[in-house]
Amino acid sequence: MDQYRVFGNPIKQSRSPSIHHAFALQTQQLINYQSELVELDQFEKTIRQFMQTGGKGANITVPFKEQALAICDQLSERAKLAGAVNTLSFVNGKILGDNTDGQGLVQDLLNHNVQLKQSRILLLGAGGAAKGVILPLLKQSPDEIVIANRTVSKADDLVKQFNRQQLSSCAFNDLDNNKPFDVIINATSASLSGSIPAIAKEFAAGAYCYDMVYGSELTPFLQWANENGAIKVIDGLGMLVGQAAESFRIWRNVLPDITPVLDELR
Ligand code: ATR
Repeated sequence: MDQYRVFGNPIKQSRSPSIHHAFALQTQQLINYQSELVELDQFEKTIRQFMQTGGKGANITVPFKEQALAICDQLSERAKLAGAVNTLSFVNGKILGDNTDGQGLVQDLLNHNVQLKQSRILLLGAGGAAKGVILPLLKQSPDEIVIANRTVSKADDLVKQFNRQQLSSCAFNDLDNNKPFDVIINATSASLSGSIPAIAKEFAAGAYCYDMVYGSELTPFLQWANENGAIKVIDGLGMLVGQAAESFRIWRNVLPDITPVLDELR
């Protein structure tokens, strides 16, 4: 049976094994997928050992996504631009790296009938999570993506790096109140500490509001969005299942349907 793993630290909380086993059942593929804790200084050694003992592929999670990029023999364009790898494939002794996080987000938004083509998108945050979704969002042909971040210089750097006319940067309190957004994506880690990016509440009204964070309760950002008239609030569980589906497609050449798996997880 083909062997896959998710490597991270911590890893006990990972839902990837149950998601991939559900995909395997759905698509009638025989795979074994386990989670494995990696000591912080053992990443490369652990991956090479897994490859040498016949592993076919791996997902990489916090805090190893940048290290994963560094050990790849070949990288997809989206992994290069994200500066991080969450999906490894082992082919003929070579390590191929990809990043499926952004595609997971896009797929989840589309599944919720959010129109991205010709939309105005506000992306909150300029860390690794934000960076990873920019190229997949651009591929959906939005009219504009404004990147707003607490530390504006980091948003400026992303705009320079991607160098596309649809992209601009801004401070939270410099956003133009007269130009509403169709979609607001919270890619900051603010929800993890119970806080909300400091944007004016007017922006929530009439917008689809997405938080990459998920939990049993609505995140603070999604509560704020609900209270201020968002059309729909969506948490990041669908992005998690979506990125897993795209990894599964890379490895098994079949794209699973995320909806039943997401329903089961909820
Ligand atoms: P990740 O990989 O999750 O993106 P990261 O690279 O450390 O993690 O980035 C965290 C992001 O969340 C940054 O954009 C950070 O803003 P700064 O660049 O100003 O630090 C943002 N962030 C974290 N806590 C926040 C808060 N309480 N309010 C607003 N933004 C916050």
